[in-house]
Amino acid sequence: MDFGARGGSTRGMVGRNESPVGVGIVGAGFIAETRARCYGALGGRARLRAIASRTRERAERFAARFGVDAVCDSVDALCAREDVALVDLCVPNDLHRPLTERAAAAGKHVVCTKPLTAYVGQDLDRGAADADVSGRDRRAMLRLAAAEADAMVSACAAAGVQLMYGENWVYAPAVGKAASLLATAGGTILDMRGGESHKGSHSPYSKRWRHTGGGALLRLGAHPIGAMLWLKREEGLRRHGTAIAPVAVVADVADLSRIASLDTEPRAHVARGWVDVENWGTVSIEFSDGSRGVAWGADTTLGGMESRLEIQASNARYRCNLSPNDLLETYAPDAAVFGDAYVMEKIDSGAGWTTPIPDEDWTSGHLAMCADFVAAVASGCAARADGALGRDVVRVVYAAYVAAAEGRRIALDG
Ligand SMILES: NC(=O)c1ccc[n+]([C@@H]2O[C@H](COP(=O)([O-])OP(=O)(O)OC[C@H]3O[C@@H](n4cnc5c(N)ncnc54)[C@H](OP(=O)(O)O)[C@@H]3O)[C@@H](O)[C@H]2O)c1
Repeated sequence: MDFGARGGSTRGMVGRNESPVGVGIVGAGFIAETRARCYGALGGRARLRAIASRTRERAERFAARFGVDAVCDSVDALCAREDVALVDLCVPNDLHRPLTERAAAAGKHVVCTKPLTAYVGQDLDRGAADADVSGRDRRAMLRLAAAEADAMVSACAAAGVQLMYGENWVYAPAVGKAASLLATAGGTILDMRGGESHKGSHSPYSKRWRHTGGGALLRLGAHPIGAMLWLKREEGLRRHGTAIAPVAVVADVADLSRIASLDTEPRAHVARGWVDVENWGTVSIEFSDGSRGVAWGADTTLGGMESRLEIQASNARYRCNLSPNDLLETYAPDAAVFGDAYVMEKIDSGAGWTTPIPDEDWTSGHLAMCADFVAAVASGCAARADGALGRDVVRVVYAAYVAAAEGRRIALDG
């Protein structure tokens, strides 16, 4: 089995004479830019047909920058376009479910970025946009988020369209190569350890449960959790034709920026102002075969984006370094040497020893992911990262919130 260590998947590739897959992007922010770059780099296999976003001027600037054919006034107008086959939702978490259902009802294949959905107070009278929903019982959150994720998967299945889950780790060349080697080696994955961490999100929305549906464990931990669930799913399918599923979790979460000594430290570089979400979270996942995965997310890590996954198998070990990696190491005596040049995500400057990443869209897996989504639409074959994977990640994260709140192991039922 080849999980493609190259950036562009060739599976189901649109032939030279076939028309490109029409893509409509919703949102014009951070992740929308990454997707637009990647779809645009697929050698004509995809074409950015339309964009819709909340602020028309921003959407227009986006369209001009990335060569998008049309700017739509609404998501419905974008979904109504015949030249759009795939709608990529690059919008805040509370919009994932309603917009997925609208796109599916219009007969469009859907890409939903991570997390597939989240608990943001859907069952409460939310009132103000910054209402406090974080006090809600964690079991109610789990029930509601899991039901929403189920509803999204069902809506797409009923409409006969694919729901694809924007989890780039599953496509990162390092993870893909490890998966290929695991398939060749035939070993059992005993234990995985992986996390994503950095110095804190660029978005003020990340600091409030009402907007994100959780903190670092959801926003960042979703990546290693997604990769772990996918690797064990693949192992199960290979071994006995059914997925090896997550069955229970234990977890802990905290706001480390509230440690008292930070208040008096003159040089603490820790992002502050977290309203009601954790900026550090870890979960231990028990799988149906007894193996374990320990995943974490943190907004308290200095030194740039850190995304790593270690796999201990019965016959080999694997260390996947998505970021940083040492393809290039540089030293500059001060930050001015590299001026405004981009070094890597979430690094403060290019001073001292740094590891500029030559192509983050490739190493992060975003490029191969967009290639697979486009190929899935063109070929009718399922994408590697599907809605079911996103749904399972939602269940693990919210079960972890229950486990952390109640201080005990939580079984994942059904
Ligand atoms: N590696 C990853 O997979 C990754 C990384 C980062 C983020 N994400 C996910 O991507 C999603 C967006 O995050 P982001 O960082 O890109 O946020 P962002 O930079 O704030 O961009 C969000 C975009 O959505 C638009 N928007 C908001 N409400 C809308 C509505 N009702 N209709 C249409 N457009 C609307 C915003 O419009 P305005 O221009 O008017 O603000 C903005 O352009 C989140 O779910 C996040 O978890 C994934």
